[in-house]
Amino acid sequence: MKIALGSDHGGYKLKEIIKKYLQHKQLEFVDFGTDSLQSVDYPDFAFPVAEAVAKGEFEKGILFCGSGVGVTITANKVPGIRAVNAYDTYTAKQSRQHGDCNVLCLGGRRLSKAKATKIVATWLRTDFSGDERHLRRLKKIER
Ligand code: RB5
Repeated sequence: MKIALGSDHGGYKLKEIIKKYLQHKQLEFVDFGTDSLQSVDYPDFAFPVAEAVAKGEFEKGILFCGSGVGVTITANKVPGIRAVNAYDTYTAKQSRQHGDCNVLCLGGRRLSKAKATKIVATWLRTDFSGDERHLRRLKKIER
């Protein structure tokens, strides 16, 4: 699985933590930046990641900002992207099972390392259920 990563300054530290986790799990990723704590605008990083996922260059994306809100709003503007701002493993799991979410957004200023890692692990290992009712609902969004 190839994963695209991106953050602003508010999500930078958590992105670095999650990169270590992905390396440990031998999961392939590309980091679209940012690469420091210097203030930047989250759409400059969230759009490239979301577009790369929408084009099929990456199976999934993980975005980080201070709250997870800004990158979620941005990613969901890209057709084909279903982004979730997950604050717990329940939401992470349901976003995959029911929503087939292909971008996970995390709040670097709100989540501990342990909680964020659990959310990422849950989200990455959970498949879309494929149930007819969920497909029907997702098709309605697409249309
Ligand atoms: C940046 O200060 C902050 O607004 C951003 O990281 C994010 O939390 C926006 O939703």
